[in-house]
Amino acid sequence: MAVLKWTTDYFQEKGVSEPRASAEVLLAHVLNLSRLDLYLRYDQPLTPEELARFKALVVRRRAGEPTAYLTGRKEFWSLDFLVTPAVLIPRPETETLIESVLEVFKQETENRKPKTGNLCLEVGVGSGAIIITLARELPHTRWVGVDISGPALAVARENARRHGVAERINFLHGNLLAALKPGLRFALLAANLPYVPRPVWEELPKDIKEYEPREALLGGENGLDLIRPLARAAPGILQPGGWLALEVADGQAPKVAALVEETGKFENIEKFPDYLGVERVVRARRLEG
Ligand SMILES: C[S@@+](CC[C@H](N)C(=O)[O-])C[C@H]1O[C@@H](n2cnc3c(N)ncnc32)[C@H](O)[C@@H]1O
Repeated sequence: MAVLKWTTDYFQEKGVSEPRASAEVLLAHVLNLSRLDLYLRYDQPLTPEELARFKALVVRRRAGEPTAYLTGRKEFWSLDFLVTPAVLIPRPETETLIESVLEVFKQETENRKPKTGNLCLEVGVGSGAIIITLARELPHTRWVGVDISGPALAVARENARRHGVAERINFLHGNLLAALKPGLRFALLAANLPYVPRPVWEELPKDIKEYEPREALLGGENGLDLIRPLARAAPGILQPGGWLALEVADGQAPKVAALVEETGKFENIEKFPDYLGVERVVRARRLEG
């Protein structure tokens, strides 16, 4: 399609990231096709109405708006998630967190009544990518999902409904663990909290810094403003034998592993690399005692 080539070249010339992918995703969105199906329509010209809608999106993308906000969707773990500017766009490296949890948790919950129970928690749900994926993969689990952003919770609730897991997830509005009923103990605590250190955040590309929510990215001066208190509080809300899984920034894994170790309440503290080889997840098991 000539329009695809033209748009790719235009994006490239203007320094838009992922020029070819952006052009394909936007055109497929306008034509209501999958990216693969675009190539089956190779010779079919666009109608004037399609062309006008496509051009409007191209202008916004060229100004820096992320493709996922323009189409309102993003694929994660092969599932289609609704996204709005109220939520972080789910990242492929977050699939490492899913894998690290499933590795230990799948066998435990296949037995319907694992020793630790089957109540799980995610703090900082955003679009719901993590909690919904895990709820689908672990059909015997029930969930509590917390976020400090009301608009993000609305997106997560809608995604849970679309993916058929809304009945198993209780979404709560609050700061870290403040909204939880006292006395609750979880079999799993997963979190991908804001972890970008301020100096790194200042230098982020415009697509991210100006469009994605700051409160979903910025983790204070050294990136640990939220992870640190959560790691310290984690032993108090996990069942003996329960699991903690935290996504971290590039270079943070040793510090976060040390924070977890310092509580004196965890064993099997491990780090997991993402698909680029960056240590992306710290996973640990709450001691039985
Ligand atoms: C990095 S995003 C992760 C979103 C989603 N879990 C994902 O992995 O795509 C972090 C999320 O934590 C939420 N958040 C930030 N500070 C928080 C706090 N103090 N308590 C609870 N949630 C918080 C943000 O609103 C945002 O939705």
